[in-house]
Amino acid sequence: MQRGIAALSTVPAVVAPTRLVQQGKAGQVHRLTLQVEERFGVQPSGQVERKLERIFEKATESDLCGWVDHMSMLPATDSEWLSLVESLTVHETYFCRDKPMLRMLRGEVMSQLLQRKKQSGDYTFKIWSAGCSTGEETTNLVMLLLQALVKEGEASVSVDGEISPNPRWKLQVIGTDVSRQVVATAKNAHYADFGMGSFRDFSQANLKQFFELVSDIADPLPGVNYYRAKPFVRRHLSFRQHNLLSSSPAETGCDIVICRNVLIYFQDSVKRAVQALFGRALSTGGVLVLGGPDVLYWPEFYKRQFGDGGAWYIKEA
Ligand SMILES: C[S@@+](CC[C@H](N)C(=O)[O-])C[C@H]1O[C@@H](n2cnc3c(N)ncnc32)[C@H](O)[C@@H]1O
Repeated sequence: MQRGIAALSTVPAVVAPTRLVQQGKAGQVHRLTLQVEERFGVQPSGQVERKLERIFEKATESDLCGWVDHMSMLPATDSEWLSLVESLTVHETYFCRDKPMLRMLRGEVMSQLLQRKKQSGDYTFKIWSAGCSTGEETTNLVMLLLQALVKEGEASVSVDGEISPNPRWKLQVIGTDVSRQVVATAKNAHYADFGMGSFRDFSQANLKQFFELVSDIADPLPGVNYYRAKPFVRRHLSFRQHNLLSSSPAETGCDIVICRNVLIYFQDSVKRAVQALFGRALSTGGVLVLGGPDVLYWPEFYKRQFGDGGAWYIKEA
């Protein structure tokens, strides 16, 4: 038997769901939802099945059956699956979502990690934001990391608020998502400032310091301002497509892995497999941050910490 974190590599990334198959067109939709779950973790809830029934309203049962047979032959990486999963996933996100947790990340988690890295003479810092949607959470993480570096005396702030880390630091903050559409939006990095949009809970001071107005938007909404993060933030950011049910993590050697408001859509066996992937992504001493309702599935590998913003987990071995 393998011991330590290496055991996590034996956990199957894809866990086949077992449920009764129904008859008729609804039965075909149900067959498809089971395959969605098997490939992407998204559970076949009533809401997902209703979305699919609407998509296939005009198809006959035999057309649908043929198409489901065809889909079952394709791997999760095929663009037909990736197009379908776009419309079945929830992409809700915004800047400064869960402020107490973000304050804790900057104040306790990042400060401790930066101090430890400085002591060991390691000036790299890598964060993986898994299930990042359109990139607000990932961009937020760069802002927090830059502020934490200032607090540790490892970055300076110019009169207009630009934060420049000591050049010995190499910072990488990587956002990944299964949806190609949201990853494209994150890379494009233009965020509209309206009502319940990305900036719904963002202060004017942060907007001024970290963002700039964008004027060259194709088809802008009338009367709406668009912003993107300033170059001093964007230079540490990258985004790419990655399915959390893959056999490998998107990154390894991470100091922080954060995954919030994603695992809630998965069944327990999938959550467990995905958290095994996070264990393989983290360096020893790295920190796992999950969403408020998420349970830790591999407590034997982590030291649990509690702060004002909730729990965080230090990988021990
Ligand atoms: C509600 S958003 C959360 C965004 C951000 N983490 C936050 O808390 O604001 C959930 C994201 O998880 C992504 N997702 C769902 N299943 C996934 C999978 N199997 N692999 C990677 N991302 C997935 C969705 O595409 C969606 O963008």
